[in-house]
Amino acid sequence: MWNNFRSSTFICVPIVTRSGEVGLGGRTRVWVCLVLVLGAAAGVGVGVPLALRVDPGATLSQRLNTVTTLLQDTPLFDGHNDLPWNIRKFMHNKLHSFNFTAELKQLRPWSRSSWSHTDLPRLREGMVGAQFWVSYVPCKSQKLNAVQLTIEQIDLIKRLIDQYPDHLRLATSADEVEAAFKEGRIASLIGVEGGHAIQNSLGVLRALRDLGVRYLTLTHTCSTPWAECARAKEIDPEDPNAPRGLTFFGKTVVREMNRLGLMVDLSHTSQSTMRAAIKASRAPVMFSHSSVYAICKNPRNVPDDILRNVSKNGGIVMVSFYNNFLTCSEQATISDVIEHINHVRKVAGVDHVGIGADFDGINNLPVGLPDVSAYPSLFAELLSDPSWTISDLRKLAGENLLRVMRQVEQVRLNLQHQQVMPFEEEVGVEQEDTEDDSCFYRFTRDAE
Ligand SMILES: *[C@@H]1O[C@H](CO)[C@@H](O)[C@H](O)[C@H]1NC(C)=O
Ligand SMILES: *[C@@H]1O[C@H](CO)[C@@H](O)[C@H](O)[C@H]1NC(C)=O
Repeated sequence: MWNNFRSSTFICVPIVTRSGEVGLGGRTRVWVCLVLVLGAAAGVGVGVPLALRVDPGATLSQRLNTVTTLLQDTPLFDGHNDLPWNIRKFMHNKLHSFNFTAELKQLRPWSRSSWSHTDLPRLREGMVGAQFWVSYVPCKSQKLNAVQLTIEQIDLIKRLIDQYPDHLRLATSADEVEAAFKEGRIASLIGVEGGHAIQNSLGVLRALRDLGVRYLTLTHTCSTPWAECARAKEIDPEDPNAPRGLTFFGKTVVREMNRLGLMVDLSHTSQSTMRAAIKASRAPVMFSHSSVYAICKNPRNVPDDILRNVSKNGGIVMVSFYNNFLTCSEQATISDVIEHINHVRKVAGVDHVGIGADFDGINNLPVGLPDVSAYPSLFAELLSDPSWTISDLRKLAGENLLRVMRQVEQVRLNLQHQQVMPFEEEVGVEQEDTEDDSCFYRFTRDAE
């Protein structure tokens, strides 16, 4: 019956009865739900929003049932998971010694790591419908082998997807996400975390897009020669060469990303970079794993004025589950996550909030959200707040990110129609590090 959702509507009416046996003054409210199947609407193919309601006093198990139904129909689409880096760290990218269908919390070395929260049984239990898997490589590889390591992480993600075809499917567009989800596969997308991965090269940026990458986080915990990271001032407040926000080349990276249909991810960037990128971008931007600065003043979080501009820009802020960003302490609960989600909803709007838990990339998680199996608990909790309608919960779960992807894809098509050519700018020579020349082959700029 659940497959028939979009063509059905539910009408629920409370019936108050008196009963001698039940407590609370003997009054029991029973919700009676009727299902009207709108055959005609189904024929037209117009989705009828599910008028599923939950009694404000519904038990946890009733709410979980509703969440199950909801997440069978709408993909839960998380913005950031760092499992690929842990496979590098623990297994040196050797997938023959990695069993994704096993319960990793029972297996060493995963069972001993506070950074491990992901395996297929728990992804299924958590009803994850789509996931951005992250190709992350450490800042220390900047100006060294960052490009190679990034490509190896992309190769790892693709081999992982190929090895579990019954569970995972590569997706590179919103349509492919929906198609994979309809076939019961977890749509698997690739994001690259850290602008150092392109080593100042628009050619590398384009090649990453060809490999299937669909977002680039402009910085990780280091600035690049063209983009300032969140902690730049802490790392080296005096550095005269540090970029403030985006340089001219940095803005060109953003424009090339618009042309390529690559989402601009601003998690980890400084506030000046966020502002400059939102201004430069012709497409909606994303924060793949960030929370709210007004609640926890950590530079990884997003301040209210930028939340408002993300709303105007059509973008999305995907709330992270890292305790240190939620409460600025090592402790947090599901309620703290909800406070952040509600704040993004209040300031940016319900169309601009999502979830980017950062599982496998963090080691302090809220009580009640220990791993990827726990997303339904979060939704069940949100469901006890009547200000969250079913259709708004669908937006939070995945519809918002799908919309952002579609808009980014549309901007790409528009720029193609305008015949905007690939950008050929280079990072300024003065910004290139000349001290460790030995690592690079450099062309001379002579005519000959
Ligand atoms: C992987 O783990 C699953 C579940 O424990 C098990 O059934 C399967 O045999 C394992 N596969 C390999 C290759 O060890
Ligand atoms: C928000 O956008 C407006 C223009 O729409 C701009 O004037 C303002 O500086 C922006 N604020 C931030 C924080 O970027």
